[in-house]
Amino acid sequence: MSDVQSFIDGSLGRFRSEMYDFLRIPSISAKSEYDENTRAAAEWLAEKLGGAGLEAEIIDTAGHPIVLGESRAAGPDAPTVLIYGHYDVQPPEPLDLWTSPPFEPTERNGRVYARGSADDKGQLYMHVKALEAHYATGTPLPINVVMIAEGEEEIGSPNLVPFVVEHAERLACDIVLISDTGMYAEGLPSVGFSLRGLAYFEIHVRGANSDLHSGEFGGSVANPANTLSKIIASLHAADGSIAIDGFYDDVLEWDQATRSQIASLPHSDDEFAADLALHELSGEAGYGTLERLWIRPTCDVCGILSGYTGEGAKTVLPNHAMAKVSFRLVPDQNPDRIKELLDAHVARLDLPGVSVEIHELHGGRPWRASVEGPAFEAASEALEEAFGTKPVPMGGGGSIPIVVEFEEKLNATALLVGFSLPGCNLHAPNEWFSLENYEKGIGALARLYDKLGRVQAGT
Ligand code: BES
Ligand code: MN
Ligand code: MN
Repeated sequence: MSDVQSFIDGSLGRFRSEMYDFLRIPSISAKSEYDENTRAAAEWLAEKLGGAGLEAEIIDTAGHPIVLGESRAAGPDAPTVLIYGHYDVQPPEPLDLWTSPPFEPTERNGRVYARGSADDKGQLYMHVKALEAHYATGTPLPINVVMIAEGEEEIGSPNLVPFVVEHAERLACDIVLISDTGMYAEGLPSVGFSLRGLAYFEIHVRGANSDLHSGEFGGSVANPANTLSKIIASLHAADGSIAIDGFYDDVLEWDQATRSQIASLPHSDDEFAADLALHELSGEAGYGTLERLWIRPTCDVCGILSGYTGEGAKTVLPNHAMAKVSFRLVPDQNPDRIKELLDAHVARLDLPGVSVEIHELHGGRPWRASVEGPAFEAASEALEEAFGTKPVPMGGGGSIPIVVEFEEKLNATALLVGFSLPGCNLHAPNEWFSLENYEKGIGALARLYDKLGRVQAGT
């Protein structure tokens, strides 16, 4: 291990500048005008996998390509670790809110600012460098490695599940290792124990065959914007819970041990609010902030569109209103069931004079892990050695829908070891990644591969 760590220490400058090359490629999966760049990022990555001792190939899908890398030198009796990450990024807009351009990685105060630095190109690339450190120093890996980097995570991984099903034999593994989440706090590494699922809908309300004069027609015909507001208002009860019949039926109550563990984490509501320039927080009654974020479901309007929103007043009665509404789900909720419940809920409302349509956008199931077992132990040790602090188990408010699918389809255990820090502006302007975490994290991952060698293969 000391060879590996000294190789890492001696290569940090190059490791950084390579990451910056990766970040310069605008691999924005949602926008077709960037398709060539997205492919270029896949090709760039595949080449670097080759340099880290993996056999790499690019596999085309109906959408963006999948980069697959393999190193099977440890042999059939050794455990196999599938490393998953994504090389696509969210659109960077609004551009004018970035201090430095999103695709020109810029260092400030020990951070690199760029779209994808934390989510997830920077973190994905840490694995490539930790693997390279073994390869370049001739240090054998005690595990077989399969790496999958997809280019569609940020658009809901539409082609990955079919890929995993089709190639289940080739992807067979014991552990799925993912660095696409965060650490609880600076200097406090973490191993993930949960991710929320997602059920995301577009609700359309349509009225007359045209926008109308709001004086000439207002009061005599339904206003889709009013009706949509009524639908949205009906989704929550006064105590902040979700008022859809049956919504909580499949929500598991968490064990007291996990709730106490969550309660023991250093957290201040006042600081959390102050960081967001809020004077108070708000959420479901009966739960603390971390519980509301990690182990309770939510409903949020992510976007809303209707009527006149330009300068000044235009007296118009719109004929169409649309809202994007997302539900974050927790075990054992299922996005298909949530769709049925939402449909039934809206059908029961009294909404005269309009038609309502609900379309499904993304869906993803929630994930929950056991915070015990050899893989979890290995991660704890590796993180403690690299960061000098024992890691804490941490929940995840966001979603990585493929995690459950990997576990089920490949009969493996997922292990989430992430390195982004709170406030790192995921999906927002001025996304950043801590350079200290990049460097220490590469060391932690290199150690983790060695420790995962003790996981029993084929169980
Ligand atoms: N890396 C995030 C997920 C994440 C963020 C997990 C923070 C835990 C903490 C991932 O890239 C992401 O953004 N996922 C999307 C879901 C997807 C279907 C668009 C999300 O959570 O909104
Ligand atoms: Mn991500
Ligand atoms: Mn993301």
